[in-house]
Amino acid sequence: MYTQAMDTAGREPAERPAAGEGTPALRSADELPLEQRFDARIDAGEFIEAKDWMPEHYRRTLLRQISQHAHSEIVGMLPEGRWITRAPTLKRKAILLAKVQDEGGHGLYLYAAAETLGSSRDQMIQALHSGKSKYSSIFNYPTLTWADVGTIGWLVDGAAIMNQVPICRCSYAPYARAMVRICREESFHQRQGFESLLTMMQGGTEAQRAMVQDAVDRWWWPAVMMFGPPDDQSPNSAQSMRWGIKRFSNDDLRQKFIDAAVDQARELGVTLPDPALRWNEARQHHDHGPIDWAEFWRVIAGDGPCNRERIHARVQAWEEGAWVREAALAHERRQAVQQQAA
Ligand SMILES: [Fe+2]
Ligand SMILES: [Fe+2]
Repeated sequence: MYTQAMDTAGREPAERPAAGEGTPALRSADELPLEQRFDARIDAGEFIEAKDWMPEHYRRTLLRQISQHAHSEIVGMLPEGRWITRAPTLKRKAILLAKVQDEGGHGLYLYAAAETLGSSRDQMIQALHSGKSKYSSIFNYPTLTWADVGTIGWLVDGAAIMNQVPICRCSYAPYARAMVRICREESFHQRQGFESLLTMMQGGTEAQRAMVQDAVDRWWWPAVMMFGPPDDQSPNSAQSMRWGIKRFSNDDLRQKFIDAAVDQARELGVTLPDPALRWNEARQHHDHGPIDWAEFWRVIAGDGPCNRERIHARVQAWEEGAWVREAALAHERRQAVQQQAA
């Protein structure tokens, strides 16, 4: 998952852009030709590699987006992870185990991509734990029933695919390469979720169908919010599009997601909880009801149903893993000594 909703810097005190971020930095005479060359490469659709010169603002924007994306992947393991021991069959357990493991892998690819921009893994983890760095708002909602797991696959991974496929062509090559691998797995995640819900809707009991509908009722609006604030309230979007970091606006991606979900909901036999949702012949898209942006900003700012629980779980895992990191470093040191002796 899960990047578009990350375009939120500047709204909360903890996320205030640092000096030079948010406004174009003053350039030295040396930098001007470098920046012109950089802009020309972007305009020509070329990829930028880690070793290439890049404007500081571009580097910071990418670092913020990729690290927040990485955090979203690993925090995203938590809501579903708690269902691994309670999956209804061995098959579902194996699928969920593989999916949660995939998300951990996505986090690792993305932390590695972010490290190429000059931040250490420890710095990024510290920023997550202190609340300075954000992750996708969607993971601050609880998973109350087994149907939530299928619904996350269908809607949350489905929204992630809409967001992430365009990033496979992002101008920063290490990020684009990571996304190619990630998108292949996200598409499996979406399909397993849909198939799990379809099984309950078509072959299940009345209670199971009601459980699916309840999960869809709770996850629909948070999933719609995953695309981030409306375009007119998304201050970083224009620059990110200019730099080829972002290819479509938040509202365009949200519309694509809603249009696709309406057809899929019909196939499933569930009702999307938006009475204003209807086809608009003139626009050739679905109209939808108002989105509660106050809720979105509240959750991003740290006051969603599970924000504290999620950060607590991450900090605890980090502390309990200290001995593993120490052992790995000791092993590395010993190998280096052995290599020198050989
Ligand atoms: Fe993922
Ligand atoms: Fe996923």
